[in-house]
Amino acid sequence: MSEKECFPENFLWGSASAAYQVEGAWKEDGKGPSVWDNFTKIPGTTFKGTNGDVAVDHYHRYKEDVALMAEMGLKAYRFSIAWSRILPNGRGKVNKAGLHFYNQLINELIKYNIQPIITIYHWDVPQKLMDLYGAWESREIINDFNEYCILLYKHFGDRVKYWITLNEQNVFISLGYDRGLHPPAVKDKKRMFAANHIANLANAKAIQSFRRYVPDGKIGPSFAYGPVYPLDCHPDNILAYENAEELNNHWWLDIYVWGRYPKTMWKLLSEAGIAPTMEEGDSELLAFGRPDFLGINYYRTGTVERNPVEKAVDEGEMNTTGQKGTTKEHGIPGLYKSKKNPYLNSTNWDWEIDPQGLRIGLRRLTNRYNLPLLITENGLGEFDQLEEGEINDEYRIDYLRSHIQACQSAINDGVDLIGYCTWSFTDLLSWLNGYQKRYGFVYVDREEQEEKELKRIKKKSFYWYKKVMETRGREL
Ligand code: BG6
Repeated sequence: MSEKECFPENFLWGSASAAYQVEGAWKEDGKGPSVWDNFTKIPGTTFKGTNGDVAVDHYHRYKEDVALMAEMGLKAYRFSIAWSRILPNGRGKVNKAGLHFYNQLINELIKYNIQPIITIYHWDVPQKLMDLYGAWESREIINDFNEYCILLYKHFGDRVKYWITLNEQNVFISLGYDRGLHPPAVKDKKRMFAANHIANLANAKAIQSFRRYVPDGKIGPSFAYGPVYPLDCHPDNILAYENAEELNNHWWLDIYVWGRYPKTMWKLLSEAGIAPTMEEGDSELLAFGRPDFLGINYYRTGTVERNPVEKAVDEGEMNTTGQKGTTKEHGIPGLYKSKKNPYLNSTNWDWEIDPQGLRIGLRRLTNRYNLPLLITENGLGEFDQLEEGEINDEYRIDYLRSHIQACQSAINDGVDLIGYCTWSFTDLLSWLNGYQKRYGFVYVDREEQEEKELKRIKKKSFYWYKKVMETRGREL
């Protein structure tokens, strides 16, 4: 491999997690409840009633986990902060024990030269703010979120230089307010677009404050990016693809980067009476939100075709069991509907495996937005078998290898890719899919309802990624 094809010297080879999915200790040391603490206790909301009460107990075992990261030679670790661990009520009184926990974690990472990357918000809004004013449905959250961010900047900004504002706003807003699958389980498009607009404003304000408190740091949102393909070249399907790209990708990314919504979709939503309300000062605030980089969570592409209103596909169904083939098409009447891509294989959860799609996506983003890109998540959720104390996850290695190769090609194409974080380091709770959908390099021995000893066991992929990092991607 020539030097040209090699990953840059300071490339952020990393791995990622989120507080609710790993920490546990859901009501310890002064932590307040988040919406997920409550939502998962409502029967029927998650796979077999799984929740993050204990998760993989990272709160108590962070030293052991960081030691494993160090052994692997990880260069960066992306983790999220639980808002209600810092501010149990979402605002007001600060929980010192919460600050202490994250301080310790950050110091432990730095001790081993692992760059901490903080996600400020990974879906666990404090329950108190939901009760008080409906969380993302009220403009009150803009200030509360900003105050929370400032607290983090002040306490951790001296040591942490990479920050993510909101993780997958497109997912927590769409699933929370349109598809009714995440808290607060609302199914109302108008409310969804309104809440989304407020989240955009909160994101912009957080970035505006960041400039003041961490002037030498870098910040951006993480977006769940699924590049879209048309099923074929029928012009109706090309139009469906344009609709899906605009509504599912540009609707968020244009705002992040340029502070404005895509024009044709705005008109369409306005005519349907579901566009958000732009108040005086919104455009000015959104303009402050321009990020330093875009965080990209990439798992798969999406393929679409036309969706005539007369016999339209609407809600669909998600596969949360791992029974292959149980996903049902979804769409927006008149605009597009999802289709299975006949050229791609998929996982047991029906997620299409498409490394080339990552290269295509990174190029599209570069040409449209011309910003540095940081892959903040990429990985394979699968059943893993523990056999005689070992996990031979060759399929995960294949997945990651092909996606890292796609990153390499994208860099050669001219993409400014600054890092690649796999999802995830240890196994963790998959929000709606329980503990059986595993993503980690490190197996955690627990079942859906039974925590067992939560023993950490290195998978085959652990040693493989170690080598990849050591050789800067030369040995894949
Ligand atoms: C992203 C999230 O959507 O994908 C993670 O940021 C999540 O929190 C990951 O776990 C994988 O999704 P899932 O549904 O398989 O857990």
